[in-house]
This record gives sequence, structure tokens and C-alpha cells, in this order.
Amino acid sequence: APTRYEAENAVCDGTIDSNHSGFSGSGFCNSINATGVAVQFTVNAASAGTATLGVRYANGGTTDRLATVNGGATVSFPSTGAWNTWSTATTTIQVNAGTNTIRLAATTAAGLANIDYLDVEVGGPNPPTGRK
Ligand code: GCU
Ligand code: CA
Repeated sequence: APTRYEAENAVCDGTIDSNHSGFSGSGFCNSINATGVAVQFTVNAASAGTATLGVRYANGGTTDRLATVNGGATVSFPSTGAWNTWSTATTTIQVNAGTNTIRLAATTAAGLANIDYLDVEVGGPNPPTGRK
């Protein structure tokens, strides 16, 4: 199973809000509406490798919000139709064993979508219990 990192425990260039329902934990990151603003997670990986990232978000606007991941690939956060409708955007990134910083930075003046949490899973699913 992935490890979940709640946005309320991340560094959020904005406020941790709770005014739109359906979020996990105690709130979500509502970034400032500006280019370059970020939400930054500190993530632990048991081993190095390819990590699948699942970013739960809401975008009640009509246009995509876009963000780079650690300055690399761009992830799209298309409209979800309402600020209390949540979806998941996925991408992959290479991680090191131990502590990693994962930073989503907005590339448009709209800023980030509202970000609820980051799920991180390194490698594929674990083998079934009992498999050797
Ligand atoms: C609205 C909404 C916020 C959202 C913002 C935005 O103000 O209530 O939660 O972050 O729009 O456009 O980014
Ligand atoms: Ca915002």
C-alpha cells in the first residue's frame, strides 16, 4: 500500500483550509494564486527506485492547473468541476533510499489546485503474503 502524506503536514505556500468538504485529515493546501508557489512534502522511501505518486486534489476552476515535480515533469490537475469534488493525478519519480523532498510547483498564475495529500509507493505492489 502507498504511504500517505497529508498536505496539512507539508510546507504549503498558502493556507491550510477546510472550507471545502471531502478532504482527508484536517485540511488541504490552498496555495496562493501565483506562478512558482509550491507544496513541499518530506517523504521517506525504504529503498531507491521508481515511486508512483498519487496527488489528491480539487480544481473548481475551469482551466487546468499545472505543476512541475521537483522541477522536472509537469503534472496536470484538470478541472474537477467543484472545489468539493476531489480527484487523483498520478506521475512517477525516482527516489533515493531514505528522506526525499517532493515539491509540486505551479507553472501558471492560477497557482496550484487545492492539494489534499500525496500518496507514495516505491516499486510495484508487495508480493502476496507467503510468497518467497
Ligand atoms: C476559491 C476556492 C479556493 C481555491 C481558489 C483558487 O477561492 O475557495 O479553495 O484555492 O478559489 O482559485 O485557487
Ligand atoms: Ca488557491
